[in-house]
Amino acid sequence: MPEHKKLRVAVIGCGMIHVEHMQGYAELKDKVEIVAAVDRKRECLEAVRDKWGLPENALFADWDTMLAEVRPDAVDLCLPNYEHFPAAMDAIAAGCHVYCEKPLGMNAAECEKMIAAAKAKNLKLAVGFQQEYCPSTEVLVNARNAGFFGELRSVHGSLLRRRGTPNWGTYYSRELGGGPVLDILVHLLDVITHVCGRPEPARLSASYFYGEGKNPCDVFCSAPDWNSRDYNVEDLAVAQITFRNGLVVQLETSYINHIREDCVYDFKLSGAKGGAWWRNGKAPELYADRFGAMMNITPAYLPSLGRPDMFRRKLDNWVTACLTGSALMLPGEIGLYIQRMLDAIALSAKSGKEVEL
Ligand SMILES: NC(=O)c1ccc[n+]([C@@H]2O[C@H](COP(=O)([O-])OP(=O)(O)OC[C@H]3O[C@@H](n4cnc5c(N)ncnc54)[C@H](O)[C@@H]3O)[C@@H](O)[C@H]2O)c1
Repeated sequence: MPEHKKLRVAVIGCGMIHVEHMQGYAELKDKVEIVAAVDRKRECLEAVRDKWGLPENALFADWDTMLAEVRPDAVDLCLPNYEHFPAAMDAIAAGCHVYCEKPLGMNAAECEKMIAAAKAKNLKLAVGFQQEYCPSTEVLVNARNAGFFGELRSVHGSLLRRRGTPNWGTYYSRELGGGPVLDILVHLLDVITHVCGRPEPARLSASYFYGEGKNPCDVFCSAPDWNSRDYNVEDLAVAQITFRNGLVVQLETSYINHIREDCVYDFKLSGAKGGAWWRNGKAPELYADRFGAMMNITPAYLPSLGRPDMFRRKLDNWVTACLTGSALMLPGEIGLYIQRMLDAIALSAKSGKEVEL
């Protein structure tokens, strides 16, 4: 594809997250033209038309018709998790590059098929994580590359919500790809393994705790009206992953949990020579011994740590890769690497046994 051409992108799924994608594309307007929007809900399409000025003939209720009529260069999948695989496979068959929101699929087998299909057609398949683009993450990656931490020993990561079951979409349903492990732990595992250099997992064990989400909410909270009738996902999950390099990562995630804060999203990393505390949306702290003292180090300045910047940067990386053939920061293979661990977490929780990877 010539470098001067804009990428003709169709957005499939116009629910909650597509707004942040459209805002990102608005800032990439020199490189991207949004040529279609797809959603089975008419009111979602009308909202896209009214906010972003898409013409009526660019709005579609299903992706098959859109792919045949519009023939976009690329699609951006903002669909519920259980529909990532069928939509990606259809789009790839139609010759489109694919940006797929996280998680890449429902399981590793789906991810493998998506990756193979894209590779066979020389198309770019990206997975929608974004913490790689947070400056505080970049600082920790730079610190690891400079040997600041020495040998990595342990990480303790939390992505806990006190009462945080989404009250829209399909997050209440295991069959539709919901639950805190697939929905939010996926981000935490992504950023931890990115900072740690994507080590090879060796074995893990996990436990899921169920039950509270089935009860209608009877306390004050910001989103009490989740679908408790059909809720069949875990309230809380804990896992421990041992990697081949000896690193041990402990993780906890919840939609419903009795904790002090409304939400905790952080991890503490310790190595033989140094440590760090990564906190979502905040500058990190680094710890090491210097000049005969135990020092706590914080950056005096970091650029914006906000989501809009991360979304613009992640979409820019994919758009540029589609237009120029440059490398993806987050190719499908990273989605598969994470998904294998998620599959093993679910298996261990179900079997009650440690799982070898
Ligand atoms: N990267 C992030 O930080 C982040 C944050 C939130 C959500 N997400 C991911 O984004 C994806 C979408 O999440 P959401 O919260 O926006 O969900 P959502 O339910 O709000 O939106 C999904 C939209 O897809 C439409 N849809 C569903 N099936 C369809 C079909 N077959 N044909 C046409 N339209 C269809 C629905 O009508 C809905 O409008 C999920 O994979 C989620 O994990 C990522």
